[in-house]
Amino acid sequence: MRDVAVIGIGCTEFGEHWSASFRELFVTAGVLALQDAGVAGEELDALYVGNMSAGRFVEQEHIGALIADYAGLASNHIPSTRVEAACASGGLAFRQAVIAVASGMEDIVVAAGVEKMTDVGTGASVDMLASAADREWEGFAGATFPGLYAMIANDYMHRYPLTREQLAQVAVKNHENGARNPIAQFRNRITIDTVLNSSLVADPLRLFDCSPITDGAAAVVVVPLERAREFTDSPVRVLASAQASDTIALHDRRDISTLDATVAAGKRALDQAGLEHKDIDLLEVHDCFTIAEICAIEDLGFCRKGEAGRLTEEGVTALDGDLPVNTSGGLKACGHPVGATGIKQVCEIVAQLRGEAGSRQVDAEIGMAHNVGGTGATVVVHILGV
Ligand code: COA
Repeated sequence: MRDVAVIGIGCTEFGEHWSASFRELFVTAGVLALQDAGVAGEELDALYVGNMSAGRFVEQEHIGALIADYAGLASNHIPSTRVEAACASGGLAFRQAVIAVASGMEDIVVAAGVEKMTDVGTGASVDMLASAADREWEGFAGATFPGLYAMIANDYMHRYPLTREQLAQVAVKNHENGARNPIAQFRNRITIDTVLNSSLVADPLRLFDCSPITDGAAAVVVVPLERAREFTDSPVRVLASAQASDTIALHDRRDISTLDATVAAGKRALDQAGLEHKDIDLLEVHDCFTIAEICAIEDLGFCRKGEAGRLTEEGVTALDGDLPVNTSGGLKACGHPVGATGIKQVCEIVAQLRGEAGSRQVDAEIGMAHNVGGTGATVVVHILGV
């Protein structure tokens, strides 16, 4: 297997894009990534595109071909593949690109993610997202993602010493980081009271415990490490790429407030990279709800079960803490265009490792990205380093 590097990144702004279509979002992110890499479209060998549900959100399927066409690459006839794993589609598209380059099958590859969710109303959007859970056992019984993560939160808070204020602090911290990120959907700072006084969505989760519904796209350019310096002085190495799966329905899990696929993928990634937890300088984790960030930090093994709330309250996961988590603002403040999120996480880690994160910049040489599909039936973990 060959070593792999990321040489270019690009993201659209995340938010409601009334004046940009699904395909325009993708092309914008792709062009930004190619420009950043100094690569011409004609040099690409393959495209991998993470997308969860364009068929239902914008009534468009056959996304691989569409993307290649609107990227101006139809006449080049390069392979272009859509990758779907619900909210982990982006992370998995990145993993497919890494595998293609590592194997020697492809040399210059774009991994991207795109989702346009706001062209439908909240009810329709929530229902489409619910199709990533078990439709027969969960969706038909009325469970949506806020409801399923509320069950996880209730179970967790029953068993471990997490206070409502500590949970709210996850959102406060991520809005603080989002306020410093020019692509973030929400750039407003909030307080614990903002969270506690926001409307109840699914007890105990309130509006500000939830990631929003978002349009956006992100793209990265991946090449073999041995060729990276043809294009850039600051390649970022892919040190590990791991994936794990679990039961799709929560009720079949051994423990509903531990995501075993996160445990497995996190461990595999560290083993692959030959690293320990203390070597990781920053984390982008899948905080689709505040409780998800708490579980992720613990299930990835950065502290024991029941401790992440206290660490958050003490500022350990803040920008100036020992383990900054979700410097981008996370899904909570940066937004969560589901197919794009996993790629945006990689973009944030690369920007941080290159020292290009502006007022969000932390001191980091190695970062980990953690992307979850559903309530943890698919988990993808990458480690990147300089
Ligand atoms: N955090 C903070 N503010 C939010 C927000 C969020 N998650 N979602 C919406 N808002 C704000 C909007 O900006 C708007 O503010 P304004 O009135 O000042 O313009 C207001 O709240 C109402 O927005 P609206 O779009 O009508 O919200 P909604 O009630 O239709 O939807 C949720 C809110 C929480 C139901 C929806 O965002 C949701 O379902 N989120 C979860 C998405 C999800 O499950 N993703 C997959 C995870 S696995």
